[in-house]
Amino acid sequence: MKIFLDTANIDEIREGAELGIVTGVTTNPSLAAKEGIGGKAGYRAAVEEIADLIDGPISVEVVSTDAEGMIAEGRDIAEWIANPWVKIPSTTEGFKAISVLARDDIKINQTLCFSVNQAILGAQAGSTVVSPFIGRLDDIGQEGMTLVEDIVSIFRQYEIPTLVMAASIRHALHCTMAAKSGADISTVPYPVLKQMVQHPLTDVGLARFLQDWEKAGNA
Ligand code: G3P
Repeated sequence: MKIFLDTANIDEIREGAELGIVTGVTTNPSLAAKEGIGGKAGYRAAVEEIADLIDGPISVEVVSTDAEGMIAEGRDIAEWIANPWVKIPSTTEGFKAISVLARDDIKINQTLCFSVNQAILGAQAGSTVVSPFIGRLDDIGQEGMTLVEDIVSIFRQYEIPTLVMAASIRHALHCTMAAKSGADISTVPYPVLKQMVQHPLTDVGLARFLQDWEKAGNA
């Protein structure tokens, strides 16, 4: 399972790139706004900066709600960087836009996916990857991970090539469970990436190794 960073913060992306672990980035209008990125030109400049740091796909979301607007935005975003994934919501207008953009060979990240049916429809329309939002389902008392498991198993059963990306990840266990479910990608906020690195026994073990080394007379 690949690890993407779910952020528009350039310092976090730089850190992730240095770790050598992060192979893609997902952004959305909320994440961009959080970093003070505004307007199409601002979003484009930020995405270009991200693409300079990360070799893999960068997801960039449209803000139109009608198919025509999404298609125009998607075609524009496709010109911004070498490896864009255009984020299109799982709506009626979104599916229309996905089918047109996919025929243009533009890569689509189908976002705001909350049901198996939305995932099936998006795959038929030509989504490159579908993003079930785990945390937001958990928030309303529905098991988000079950959705990832169901989509993965149905896509495998029918040999559907659309990838599955676990999104709206809130903690490290989500990431472990997504991997167990067979998700192709987990897109994680930076604090979750840090949680994934940490284990107290690693810290204790390392301190003990160094103490023993010193006790044996090594400087
Ligand atoms: O990738 C989608 C993600 O950004 C949504 O996360 O935490 O806003 O539900 P969250």
